[in-house]
Amino acid sequence: MSIPAQAQERADALRELLHHHNYRYYVLDQPEIPDAEYDRLFRELQELEARYPALATPDSPTQRVGGAVLEGFAKVRHQVPMLSIRTETDIEPSGAISFDARVRRELGLQEGEPPVEYVAELKFDGLAISLRYEHGVLVQAATRGDGEVGEDVTQNIRTIGQVPLKLQGAHVPPVLEVRGEVYMRRDDFERLNEQQREKIARGAKNEKTFVNPRNAAAGAVRQLDPAIARQRPLSFYAYGWGEIAGGPAFRTHYEVLQAMKGWGVPVSDRVAIAHGAEDLVKYHQAVGQARDSLPFDIDGVVYKVNSLALQQRMGFVTREPRWAVAHKFPAQEQMTVVESIAVYVGRTGKLTPVAHLKPVFVGGVTVTNATLHNEDEARRKDVRVGDTVIVRRAGDVIPEVVAVVPDKRAHGAKPFAMPHVCPVCGSAVVREEGEVDHRCTGGLFCSAQRKFSILHFAQRRAMDIEGLGEKLVDQMVDQKVIRTLPDLYRLGLSGLVALERMGEKSAQNLLAALEKSKHTTLPRFLYGLGIRHVGESTARDLALHFGGLDAIMDADIERLLEVPDVGPVVAESIHAFFRERHNREVIEQLRACGVHWEEGEPAARAPKPLTGKTVVLTGTLPTLTRDEAKDLLEAAGAKVAGSVSKKTDYVIAGAEAGSKLDKANELGVPVLDEQGLRELLDGRA
Ligand code: IVH
Repeated sequence: MSIPAQAQERADALRELLHHHNYRYYVLDQPEIPDAEYDRLFRELQELEARYPALATPDSPTQRVGGAVLEGFAKVRHQVPMLSIRTETDIEPSGAISFDARVRRELGLQEGEPPVEYVAELKFDGLAISLRYEHGVLVQAATRGDGEVGEDVTQNIRTIGQVPLKLQGAHVPPVLEVRGEVYMRRDDFERLNEQQREKIARGAKNEKTFVNPRNAAAGAVRQLDPAIARQRPLSFYAYGWGEIAGGPAFRTHYEVLQAMKGWGVPVSDRVAIAHGAEDLVKYHQAVGQARDSLPFDIDGVVYKVNSLALQQRMGFVTREPRWAVAHKFPAQEQMTVVESIAVYVGRTGKLTPVAHLKPVFVGGVTVTNATLHNEDEARRKDVRVGDTVIVRRAGDVIPEVVAVVPDKRAHGAKPFAMPHVCPVCGSAVVREEGEVDHRCTGGLFCSAQRKFSILHFAQRRAMDIEGLGEKLVDQMVDQKVIRTLPDLYRLGLSGLVALERMGEKSAQNLLAALEKSKHTTLPRFLYGLGIRHVGESTARDLALHFGGLDAIMDADIERLLEVPDVGPVVAESIHAFFRERHNREVIEQLRACGVHWEEGEPAARAPKPLTGKTVVLTGTLPTLTRDEAKDLLEAAGAKVAGSVSKKTDYVIAGAEAGSKLDKANELGVPVLDEQGLRELLDGRA
C-alpha cells in the first residue's frame, strides 16, 4: 500500500514533536504541554502507524515504553520486567463495565456465572519504583526506565521516610521486589514551590518551580545530588511486586498487598475488594467524589483480577497484562488560551491579576479564570494575552496557570504590567518595598474597599458605632444607601427603616450610636481611617506627637519618621494615604458632618497620659491580646509589670483572672476592664 505524502509528513512531524516532549518530560522534568495533549499526539501517531504500518520506524516514540536512562545513574536490569497497564478509553463509569465484560469473555464465563472478584486501587500520579529487599533489607531501588532497564536511585529512595530500610514481622521472603509509586503530597508540593519561588526572588540562578507534584517527585528521585534529593519531601505506596522468592504462598493479589503491609510497606487503605462490574462502578464513583479531598493527586483508579491463578490464565498482550486496567478521571491539566488579563481589587486594596481563559474542562470542572497572584508571579511565568497556557486544577487548590507553551506565543504579545492607578477608583497604586503586592491607596474612597473600610471605621476600637455590623454594612452598601463614610452621618430614619429586618427602634438606636460616635478622640479617628500599617498604637503615637490631624496630614516623610516606632514603610504608607486627594475629601466631609475630637499639644510639650504609671495585666481581655494591650500601655508611657504590689497604679483584669486580681482587691489597687483600659489610654479616666 502506498503512503499518501500527507500522512508521511504528519507522521514525521508528530514523531519530532513527541521526541521533543519526551525529552522535556523525562530528561528535563519540565514538560511544556499537559499529559492529555501528549496523549492526543501519541494516539494520533499510533493511529497513523496502524493505518499505514510501513510508517512505523524503529525509532518512533510509539515503539518504546518511554523514559530514557539518564547519564549519571547506574543501570539496573529488572529481574521481572516492569510492565505498563492498559488505559480504558471510556472515562465514564461505564468503562468499568466494558473491562468486566472483556475479562468474562476472556475467561470464558457465561451469563449467570458468579461475578469476578477484583481488587480496586487508586492510580497514584507519581513514578513507578521497584524496591528490592534481600533477607528483609533494602538493597536496591530502581526506576522503571524502559521497563527492562531502569536507573539505580537507591540513595535518593533511601531518603523517603515511608520506605522501610528493613522489613519487619514474620515470614519475610528472602527476595522481595516491592513495586509501587513514589509521589509528592499536594501540601508538600505547595511548600516546595513556595521555597523555590523564594529562592528565585532572592536571585538564585538555576532554580525553578515545578509544574505539578508528579514532576517534582520525578525530579527529586532522579536528582543526581543526594543532598538536594533529601530536601524534597516524597511519599510512597506499594501496589504490586516483581520477583518473590521463598516466603508464604499467595492465592490473591489482595493477600500479597496485605502481607506487604504487615511487613511494614505502605499500602493505601483505599485498596478494596470488588465483585463484578457493579462494585467497580461504585468504587470509581466513590473515589471520584473523594478525589479533591485526598492529600495527593491521583489520575484514576486501577482494577485488577484478584485471583493470581486467573491472572496467569489471562496473561499479557505485548507488555500489558490482560487482567488489569487503568480507569482514568478527567485530566487535572489542560491547555487553553488567555483571552485577557484583568486586575481585581480586594476588600483591603490588594490588586490581583487574573487570567481570563477560554473555558476549559479541567479536573472535573469548567475553568474560565486563573489567578496570577501578583506581578512577580505573572512575570515569572511570563503569561501574556493570547498565550496558550497549561492550566492545572487539583484538589481544593484554585485553578492555576502553571506554564506557558512557548511555541504557541503570537508575534508581538506584550509582557504583563500592573496598572499605575487603581482600576476601580483611579487612585494611585503603590508597591511597598519588600512586599509582593500592589495596593490601591484610595482606601476611604475606593468602592472595592468600601465595605471593609466602613466596618473598620465602625468597630469598637475605632469609632465604636454600636449596631453597625457586617450584615448591615453589606445591605447598606449593596442597596446604595451609603457610598462613602460621610454618608453614614447623613442617614435618616426613613432611609434606615426601608432596609430589611430594620425596625424603627433599631434604626433609632443606630442613629443614636452614630450621633454618639461623632465625639471621639484623634487616635480612634486615625485608627478608624484604616491607613495601612497604622494600628491603634501607631495612631496614638501620631496623635501624641503631632497633637492635631492637620499637622499629620501635612507632614512630610521626614517629619513622620520623627514619631517613635514609625519606620520608613509606615511613614511612606501614611504619606501616600494623605497625598491621595480622594481620602482628604472624605476626611473633610466627615468633619463637616460633625465628627470632632479634642486636639492636644504636640508631644514635645504634652506628656504621655500614663507616664510614670505602673500597670499589671491579668486574665483574657475580650478583644485585645496580652501583647496588644502591653504595646498600647507602653506607647502611652506606662510601665507594664508582672506582679501586683502597693506600687501598682492599675490592674487590668479580663476573664479568668486569678491571684493577681485577688491581690489587687486586697491592696485596694484600682481594677479596670478593657473598656476602662481604653478610657485610661484616651486620657478620659
Ligand atoms: S499496576 C502490571 N497499580 O500507573 C501492572 N500501577 O502504567 C503494573 N500506577 O507505571 C502497574 N497506581 O506507575 C498499578 N495502583 C496502581 C497504580 C499504578 C499508579 C502507575 C504505575 C504504572 C502506571 C500505569
